[in-house]
Amino acid sequence: MTTRTLVITTSILGENGQSKALAEHFIARAQGRDGVEVTHRDLVAEELPHLALAELGSWQVAEEERTAEQRELAARSDSLIEELQAHDVVVLAVPMYNFGIPSQLKAWFDRVMRAGVTFRYTENGPQGLVEGKRAMILAARGGQYAGTEMDTQTPHLKLMLGMIGINEVDTVFAEGLNMGEGKRDAALKEARQAIDGLVARL
Ligand SMILES: Cc1cc2nc3c(=O)[nH]c(=O)nc-3n(C[C@H](O)[C@H](O)[C@H](O)COP(=O)(O)O)c2cc1C
Repeated sequence: MTTRTLVITTSILGENGQSKALAEHFIARAQGRDGVEVTHRDLVAEELPHLALAELGSWQVAEEERTAEQRELAARSDSLIEELQAHDVVVLAVPMYNFGIPSQLKAWFDRVMRAGVTFRYTENGPQGLVEGKRAMILAARGGQYAGTEMDTQTPHLKLMLGMIGINEVDTVFAEGLNMGEGKRDAALKEARQAIDGLVARL
């Protein structure tokens, strides 16, 4: 059986991006395993724009009634959802920027969280329609917040993933990256070891 793994990177720091380096470590290890296929999507390189009214509106129009512009706009979300559905594991490499997730990653969630497509509203609340998948978060931060209310990213990411039906989520933290070289190197080493553990479970 093949485990199809989608790795999403979102660092704006180019070659210095630590979350991207962790994602690259993950990819190198995962590609060395039999039966693991990896797709890498970098949301910063492809400049995914913010979701806006015209694109949101295109989802409401029946496919056969869409204008050429609406077809093009709806295709962004359709293709990202199709890609997500075609994988078994999604790995989110997530930098912390101003206590939030990168806006490019938010733009990705804004397109894959679609009522009637990836979740639906029921009498018992929302029901996720992305089934049989798990997620891994590789979180890179300048400070140290894991397990405290200052970790403003993990609960948000888990809520969004859970909404579409992905409830099995593992998190690797690389924290204290701006707290001195010693702390940074130790955190990155520990994160790489934790990633090796996750790859072993693919
Ligand atoms: C614009 C910007 C905002 C940041 N905001 C925070 C922050 O709120 N909290 C924090 O701990 N680190 C913050 N940092 C530090 C980053 O989390 C750290 O550099 C991390 O390595 C970013 O991930 P990346 O290297 O994959 O881009 C910020 C860095 C940048 C460039």
